[in-house]
Parts: sequence; structure tokens; C-alpha cells
Amino acid sequence: MTVSSAPGKVYIFGEHAVVYGEPAIPCAIERRATVSVEARDDDHVRVSASDLSLDGFTVEYAGSTDDRPDVDVPASLVEAAMGYIDAAVEQARDAADRPDAGFDITVESEIPLGAGLGSSAAVTVAGIDAATRELGQPLPPEEVADRAYRAEAEVQNGQASRADTFCSAVGGAVRVEGDDCRSIEAPDLPIVIGFDGGAGDTGELVAGVRALKEQYSFADDTLATIGDIVRTGERLLDPDPDDPEAEIPVEDRIAEVGQLMNFNHGLLESLGVSSRSLDSMVWAAREAGAHGAKLTGAGGGGCIAALDPTPETLTALRFTPGCEEAFRAELTTDGVRRLE
Ligand code: PMV
Repeated sequence: MTVSSAPGKVYIFGEHAVVYGEPAIPCAIERRATVSVEARDDDHVRVSASDLSLDGFTVEYAGSTDDRPDVDVPASLVEAAMGYIDAAVEQARDAADRPDAGFDITVESEIPLGAGLGSSAAVTVAGIDAATRELGQPLPPEEVADRAYRAEAEVQNGQASRADTFCSAVGGAVRVEGDDCRSIEAPDLPIVIGFDGGAGDTGELVAGVRALKEQYSFADDTLATIGDIVRTGERLLDPDPDDPEAEIPVEDRIAEVGQLMNFNHGLLESLGVSSRSLDSMVWAAREAGAHGAKLTGAGGGGCIAALDPTPETLTALRFTPGCEEAFRAELTTDGVRRLE
């Protein structure tokens, strides 16, 4: 059996705009999906997932979506999770040139599904890494990232950036602009997450932004402005030694990153991807004295990320109506981890 884990992520800046070629900066957090894979003698795939949501499920099928039996859990949950696992299996079979390989797969995840913390990317990355190793074909993290991107793009009908999968595979803070993906040196950001217990539909939200962008040139300008925020923000996170930002003490740079996160959230809100509960958590964090706060990921529901080195935001979020869970996110420089 082989076991791999991969981290979730928060977007410091740039979701949605990254779909149109603007840069984005996600950062890996120490909440992981763990995938165990054991090769089978036949070409079947059996998947058990206990923690992907409140309900667990086990499904055995012969390798394609159409062959799946009915299972007694919400169809949307099975479809969401199984789609990524299917696509990861196909990538592993392709990488190892073993089109008929069968697997027993167990998925455990500490990352809420569809909540903006990169659960699908983490499952896909860990799944490809474990399955390729199980077939004796280990891949470097950059290739795992590339294959995980292709898997996600397939499941999301081509609407995916490389941001989530690259960040999950290599860890740390990364900058993604189109196909150009690289690690950056970010300071240790004091990130607090608020989770409203819900989820957004990434495909629908991306389609909604696309419709606005096509209807209004100012929506297009809004996406370009998000790109400007990311370019300004990256000089605060990882200044070149010659940049004037390099002279600014790190605490002050982090405070300014918070201010830019507020700006980024406002623009995401204007593009229609926030929600009442996300906005309440953002405001609770700001009122508690956070440097800044914004939704993370596709939006519609799910998580916000706030920057606050003090305990105030965490406490305030725990008392905020609509916030189901709040926790401090430890950043991790570890991407995919090989456990067994
Ligand atoms: O909510 P998530 O973690 O699936 O992030 C989606 C981020 C988008 O920019 C909206 C889409 C993408 O693929 O980059």
C-alpha cells in the first residue's frame, strides 16, 4: 500500500482573475487530504471516503463513471468527490502506462469540501502521487502538479487554473500566472480561517463572473484591477532586494498585505461571488482588528482568510453568527508528502 498526503490552501490574492491570465498567490496550509492506494488484481476501482463531508461512502465500480452503482449518499457529494478521484486514477494509469490498473483507494480529508481551501486539488494531488508510486512510477512534484491540473480541468470542463494544484503539490506560497508557476518566499503570515459550514459551486461561480465580464467592460476592468493588487501584494510578500518595499519592516508589510486583501475582497464582492455569511465573517475580522480579510477560493459560501497576529479575530469569529468553525491556519512549506 502507498499513502500520500497533500495540503489545502488559502488564496492571499487573485482567485477568479487568475482564470483570465492574471497572477494569483495561494499559500499552502497544514490541513491535509490523505489518500491510501493499494493495487488490485483486476481493473476495478474501490473508493472509501470517510471524512470528505459529514457523510462517508464506499463505492466500487469498474473504472468509469457510468459503471458506478447507486449509493445512499447525496449524489452531488459523490459526483464531486468521485469525479476528482476518477480523474486522478486516469492520470496515474496514463503516467505508468497501465490503462487497466485497478485500485483500492481510501480518502481521508481534514479540508472541508468546496469551501475555498483546495480540497479537490489536495485529493487529486495526493491520489496521483500515491497511485503512481503504487504502480512503481513515482513522479516529481511538478509533474504531479501538472497531471493534477489536467485532472481538475477535465472535471471542471476546462475551467481551472494551475493555482490550487501547483500550490498543493509543492507547498509554501506560490505565484501562478497562466502556465507560469513558481514558489515565492512569503513571511510567516498569521492567517485565521472562518468557515460558514457551506460550500460554493466553483463552476457556477466562475461562469457567473465570465458572464459579467462579457456584459460589462468595467467587470473586465475589475478583474484586471485584481491583477494589479496581486502585483502590488507580491512585492510586499517577497520584495526584491532593490525594491523600496525591502526597506519596510516585515510587520508593516504584513499589515499592508491585509489592506490589499480588503481591497481584493471588495472587488470579489462586486463580481457577485461573496455571500452574506462570508461578508459577516470578513466584517467581524476587520472589527476585531485584523489587518484585513477576504473570502478565499471560488466564494458563494465556505471560508474567509483574515490576517491577525493577535487572538482577537479567532475569538470574534467564534461568536459571529453564520461562522461554524474558526481556526488558525499554520502555513506549510511541505507540499505532497510520502507517508508509506
Ligand atoms: O474554491 P476553489 O478552492 O476551488 O478555488 C477556485 C479558484 C478560482 O480562481 C475561482 C478557479 C480556479 O480554478 O482558479
